[in-house]
Amino acid sequence: MSRVRTGLGWDVHRTARDRPLLLGGVRVPADFGLEGHSDADVLAHAITDAILGAAALGDIGMHFPDTDPRWQGCDSLVFLRHAKDLAVAQGYRVANVDSTVILERPKLKDYRAAIRARLAEALDLEIGQVSVKFKTAEGMGPVGEGRSAEAQAVVTLEENAR
Ligand code: C5P
Ligand code: MG
Repeated sequence: MSRVRTGLGWDVHRTARDRPLLLGGVRVPADFGLEGHSDADVLAHAITDAILGAAALGDIGMHFPDTDPRWQGCDSLVFLRHAKDLAVAQGYRVANVDSTVILERPKLKDYRAAIRARLAEALDLEIGQVSVKFKTAEGMGPVGEGRSAEAQAVVTLEENAR
């Protein structure tokens, strides 16, 4: 019987002018982007932490410190793939990913298919194993006021048969 482990991930980034808006490795057209040391892909970061959490391998900042110039402007799918590879090295595979991006605007639903495909490719999964959902904050709080974006993720790992 395969062992199953679950991990939780969350992240937040400030919005900023003259920055790209990258979500799950997809560049979303907008008149603002997200601030951060890497490419500030809030969704990739939340999923990375969920994978690391499921494998009890610490968190993204432990593996990729934001003080390390190597990760400046880095494609966050590098972090995501690395977390997946660490879980695989422990004898696990990703069973599924569920996630939510909380961003007031723009509407993201037209990018869902592209984001799911990009994440699935990075994680060596089928698109059906990757769920991405979107919510506004109904105008409330820093996300609702357009000052930040958040993402949440849950990942299930299954132990490979030995
Ligand atoms: O936040 P709210 O419940 O109003 O979102 C309704 C729907 O709008 C979501 O289920 C999602 O499909 C879509 N949405 C979106 N892009 C956002 C926020 C919400 O496409 N930035
Ligand atoms: Mg982050």
